[in-house]
Amino acid sequence: MRTHKCGELNTAHLHEVVDLCGWVHRRRDHGGVIFIDLRDRSGLVQVVFDPDSPETFAIAESVRSEYVLKVQGIVRSRPEGTVNPNMATGEIEVLVRQVEVLNKAETPPFPLEGDIEVNEETRLRFRYIDLRRTEMQEKMKIRRDVTRCLRNFLDDHDFFEIETPYLTKATPEGARDYLVPSRVHEDAFYALPQSPQLYKQLLMISGMDRYYQVVRCFRDEDLRADRQPEFTQLDIETSFMDEEHIMFLMEEMIRHLFSEILDEQLPVEFPRMSYHEAMQRYGSDRPDLRIPLELVDIAEEMKDVEFKVFSGPANDPDGRVAALRLPHGATLTRKEIDELTRFVGIYGAKGLAYIKVNDLDAGIAGLQSPILKFIPDDVVNRVLAKTGARTGDVIFFGADKARIVNEALGALRVKLGIDRDLLEGKWKPVWIFDFPMFDWDEGQQRWNAIHHPFTAPKSTMEELQSDPGHTLSRAYDLVLNGTELGGGSIRIHKPDMQKAVFELLGIGKEEAQQKFGFLLEALKYGCPPHGGIAFGLDRLVMLMTGASSIREVIAFPKTQSASCPLIDAPAIVNDAQLRELGIRLRGRKDKAED
Ligand code: AMO
Ligand code: AMP
Repeated sequence: MRTHKCGELNTAHLHEVVDLCGWVHRRRDHGGVIFIDLRDRSGLVQVVFDPDSPETFAIAESVRSEYVLKVQGIVRSRPEGTVNPNMATGEIEVLVRQVEVLNKAETPPFPLEGDIEVNEETRLRFRYIDLRRTEMQEKMKIRRDVTRCLRNFLDDHDFFEIETPYLTKATPEGARDYLVPSRVHEDAFYALPQSPQLYKQLLMISGMDRYYQVVRCFRDEDLRADRQPEFTQLDIETSFMDEEHIMFLMEEMIRHLFSEILDEQLPVEFPRMSYHEAMQRYGSDRPDLRIPLELVDIAEEMKDVEFKVFSGPANDPDGRVAALRLPHGATLTRKEIDELTRFVGIYGAKGLAYIKVNDLDAGIAGLQSPILKFIPDDVVNRVLAKTGARTGDVIFFGADKARIVNEALGALRVKLGIDRDLLEGKWKPVWIFDFPMFDWDEGQQRWNAIHHPFTAPKSTMEELQSDPGHTLSRAYDLVLNGTELGGGSIRIHKPDMQKAVFELLGIGKEEAQQKFGFLLEALKYGCPPHGGIAFGLDRLVMLMTGASSIREVIAFPKTQSASCPLIDAPAIVNDAQLRELGIRLRGRKDKAED
């Protein structure tokens, strides 16, 4: 239907007759001459209708925004003074000889250009129109480029892309499963995979050596800006590689990607940080290293003070007392500090003590704080020295269970860093390693796997069994600018160790057999040492495009409540279909039973 794309025309095409197809982006009637910006995926071009050809002119007068046109015309230079340097095709225009309206369009529910705020629900309800916007087309293009670049890299490094089933059995990754009833097998359900974890391990046992897959994963969990119920992983597994080798290769891949797609050079070696250090310094295992603020432990100093709010957690083995210094923060108003106090409250902090350092040289008299009266001067001075306080700073304090202090001050650190424009550098990747194997679930009174139950411990079986709480795992996460991009580990490849870990997780012999018997069996048939990683492709593209949410880089995402306003999913299912599946809904009467 067409000889060229709209956006690719330039002065090299002067005097050529071209056929173009596209949407009416904008129509301007300049008293006698009509200009239309015709748009297709490649961009815009100005097409001109003059009244010398009355038939085409009449059609041009009738078209509206988003009509679909086919035009034939001659490429010519724009007259002096009308060249548009902001447009790729701004030096030329197409004088139309023939036009055909391929389809009409109703007025779109929102304009397709400019920064007009449209609520997300409306954008998702009319996603097919939203995706016409240049910004969205650009994001889809980068997503395509990213996926292609990663695939090429892995193909070049002798990886096989292998597809694994979506109708499968539960794969524990810490979320709830999406279940699919089986019509053929009474009472039985498939689970959609939370990840292809177990299949990729089986592929290593099969001798596939190096596997990858661009794969959809399904997790029924609370949604956030960087979480969707279905999302895409770049899933990778390798045999006979240790963590050093895997991290080295993955770093190379990510560096290559940023260089190819964004022309950005990431550090030659990504920094590495233990989980413990990340929690101590940043209160988070996904620290945003662009923010130059750090938590400082002051439990030692606070052990003997009378202020119970501090001395309590300082003497509690599960407690933490930490300070966060904000340079130039003494100008914060009472109201602003109240707001920050409310903010840390979201994370369970019971307050946000602070000291404003109005004049460091004036000693205690130069400080302003609601807690000075509770804390001896020498302790205050030691805290000032330890945090490196200077005149004009404010120091915030958190005291509670370590988990609460880390979450509250960790989030405060990020908020202050962003709100006060403190970010340094553009891309700050970091590997986090030496995670604990387990954390203790107080409610359930049992251990949970921090990564997943197939991750190998760093220690021997005896050490693992005698002190599970202090056992470290061979897991690693790649964090970029405060977002967890990917996570992986070296896996358990011996059946006895796998059984021991199941046991520690409170998965009894029978349950282990029923859920993971196939794995325990496969591990007996010559399983190579293996390990891998999975990257969140949506998150990667989100960061690379500067998008604020992964929904912006997914063609048809779900809302925060896991629904799709466009096709209206999930949807009610009729009785006949349910009956066929052997399902009766508790809230609904089955007519056949009445
Ligand atoms: P993990 O659960 O850490 O590991 O997931 C790997 C990466 O997937 C991304 N991700 C998500 N992205 C969007 N929405 C979600 N709901 C979501 N959940 C996770 C993150 C995360 O880093 N099988 C292991 C990998 C392995 O051990 O090889 C796994 O799935 O970017
Ligand atoms: P109070 O004695 O409760 O008025 O608290 C004195 C100061 O300590 C106030 O600034 C509170 O915001 C702060 N504060 C109270 N509890 C905590 C806590 N757990 N961690 C940090 N600061 C706190």
